[in-house]
Amino acid sequence: MQNMIPTDNDFDRWIERRGTDSIKWNLFDPDVLAMWVADMDFRSPQAVIDALQQRVEHGVFGYPKEPPQLRDVVVDWISRRYGWKVSPNAIVFLPNVAVGFNLAVQAVGKPGTGLLYQPPIYFPILDVPQHAGMEARPSQLIRTGDGHYEIDFNDFERAASDDCSTFILCNPHNPVGRAFTRDELERLGQICLKHDLFICSDEIHADFVYDERKHVPIASIDPEIAARTITLIAPNKSFNVAGISCAIAVVPNQRLREQLEEARRGLVQHVGIMSYVITQAAYTEGEEWLDSVVAYLQVNRDYTRDFVARELPGINMAEVEGTYLAWLDCRGLGLSQNPHAFFLRQARVAMNDGARFGPGGEGFVRMNFATPRSNLTEALERMRRALNERE
Ligand SMILES: Cc1ncc(COP(=O)(O)O)c(C=O)c1O
Repeated sequence: MQNMIPTDNDFDRWIERRGTDSIKWNLFDPDVLAMWVADMDFRSPQAVIDALQQRVEHGVFGYPKEPPQLRDVVVDWISRRYGWKVSPNAIVFLPNVAVGFNLAVQAVGKPGTGLLYQPPIYFPILDVPQHAGMEARPSQLIRTGDGHYEIDFNDFERAASDDCSTFILCNPHNPVGRAFTRDELERLGQICLKHDLFICSDEIHADFVYDERKHVPIASIDPEIAARTITLIAPNKSFNVAGISCAIAVVPNQRLREQLEEARRGLVQHVGIMSYVITQAAYTEGEEWLDSVVAYLQVNRDYTRDFVARELPGINMAEVEGTYLAWLDCRGLGLSQNPHAFFLRQARVAMNDGARFGPGGEGFVRMNFATPRSNLTEALERMRRALNERE
């Protein structure tokens, strides 16, 4: 398996991040291994670093103007990677995806109506209904015996038909790791069409899909679905530049685009100049790096899955089809306390507390495996020891 990893990218190399204002590595005591917030412990592609350095060298950082050819670069990326043809007019630059889904819902959602989402879910999505003056309409994903998650389409339609105006999709899904199939997306899209829902599709993990999968944007399935969808993607996640901020909304429908522009006015006026620099460099010169990192992550995923199955009895890991986040069901451990608190205290490993992700998250932890294998191995070993040593 090791041979699959190209040697020109040194993802095995440990880079110390403590003391670099990283929230991931600075939130806990120095002896704790940080396996939580979703950024990677890898250097960004050299082309991105070079482009940033070149721009820094200029030394003047006044208000930016969108570079003229950048939309074409983004459109090419979307076509090449996801097989979706969009017009350059559909592209809107945003500082990040969390701002994007809040603005999108405020742009299209109707106050007082329902906002549908599928918990357990990336927890800032749980706050969106309140920000937008809407009501939460959760439709929980179903966990089957082997840890695979499925959509309960009857329940989804029940929620969609309950005075609902908007659906926030998360695909690939954080934290359950599903990369929804074309068939599933089509069924979701058809229900949204039938009940006249707008869709805000958070596809920030689009570039992290495994086992030869290809990411399918829900809007790419059907022009009618595209006409009611705001899709969010981001170099932020794919090229590990979240600390600089850089995301993209794809909005083929001009009216929705105008609504989005209206919602951002005065609040999110422009993106930082470095966002443009990153997007240009990453989408034109970063593809090989991205493919290499995904190959590395796939081996980390397999390693984690096999280790959990072999060495951590009582924990069940959902198969990760997309994202670099393992969703660990710890309910079988019989712990008397929250598993996040247990592993933080006893193993000195910080993961995300599953309970934060809403219904269906209690008793789970989310582990970020986008880290050099030596660190991943150490974290899993610490967890094994903590479980063996418990009274
Ligand atoms: C599903 C999902 N959406 C949005 C975000 C946040 O992205 P950004 O930093 O671009 O706001 C994350 C980060 O982990 C995420 O997992």
